[in-house]
Amino acid sequence: MSKNVSIDWSKLGFAYYNTDLRYVSMWKDGKWDEGKLVEDNMISISESSTAIHYGQQCFEGLKAYRTAKGEIQLFRPDENAKRMGRSCRRILMPEFPVDRFIDACMQVVKANEHFVPPYGTGATLYLRPYLIGVGHNLGVRPAPEYMFGIFCVPVGPYFKGGMAPVNFTIADMDRAAPHGTGAAKVGGNYAGSLLPHEEAVKRGFADCIYLDPATHTKIEEVGAANFFGITKDGKFVTPVSPSILPSITKYSLMHLAEKYLGLTVEERDCRVDSLDEFVEAGACGTAAVITPIGGIEVEGKLHVFHSETEVGPVTKKLYETLVGIQLGEVEAPEGWIYKVK
Ligand code: PLP
Ligand code: COI
Repeated sequence: MSKNVSIDWSKLGFAYYNTDLRYVSMWKDGKWDEGKLVEDNMISISESSTAIHYGQQCFEGLKAYRTAKGEIQLFRPDENAKRMGRSCRRILMPEFPVDRFIDACMQVVKANEHFVPPYGTGATLYLRPYLIGVGHNLGVRPAPEYMFGIFCVPVGPYFKGGMAPVNFTIADMDRAAPHGTGAAKVGGNYAGSLLPHEEAVKRGFADCIYLDPATHTKIEEVGAANFFGITKDGKFVTPVSPSILPSITKYSLMHLAEKYLGLTVEERDCRVDSLDEFVEAGACGTAAVITPIGGIEVEGKLHVFHSETEVGPVTKKLYETLVGIQLGEVEAPEGWIYKVK
């Protein structure tokens, strides 16, 4: 580490911190400029930008991990780049090339190397890429110009419990429409989630669970994370739906469950009236990592899975395998780890 920063890494939550440098590239007249690292953490854009008025924007989230040897690595940044490309296509924004996305992540991590938390603290460096419609515009149409940026923030656990179970309640409201933008990582989905999230937190839950918007019978998402359950006969089950955000962590866990833990994996409906088919349940995502679900409140009654206080054995094994790979302690499937050199 080149510079010293006085951060109590083990006390970090998931909050903004102004690190040294961020990456910015602008799109105009059909092309992206060469991009650069800048110091300023404020951006100046037209008051009429489509990102502000019409939600023409998307973002990503990925992390840099410090290994026991002190090296730094990224977990599947190519998948984040590709998902951002899909988000862009859905809302008519120009894609940022995958190789340039990965290179920009590397530049940001290297420029802020001293903010990558030390190994063993449980903290990581969260990277937040975003792509927004900017430039002067008034009607509902795609923006004339775009901005791509990545900033980074050292973070601890997203949910207060970290690897301790937390409870969730079922939301009455939806985060996405049946044929809407649920599968894209666009800001509008998150604006729609603020009120149900706040109501859940006020009632003492970590967050809310969204059901499928058409029938309200099947689990879709756990706040800003995907859902998985472990059945009595040891299957890893996770919902499938066009309005779920395809979580890179979830698809990684499906692979690990099958190839490393020898479990049968099923992507299928998870009915909210059949929760007793699961002996363990969890939320998974970059920020959430794996957060064990203690219980889910359904129609005023808390359905507890394994325990409200203890982590189930399969969830624990999945966590150890995933985090072991991210920290360089467990051998990763080919192509999952990108060393920052
Ligand atoms: N679902 C939603 C709504 C999210 O915002 C996220 C976070 O990115 C996830 C799921 C988890 O996705 P990933 O594992 O790619 O971070
Ligand atoms: C992530 O897991 O990276 C997320 O984007 C979740 C949330 C902070 C929006």
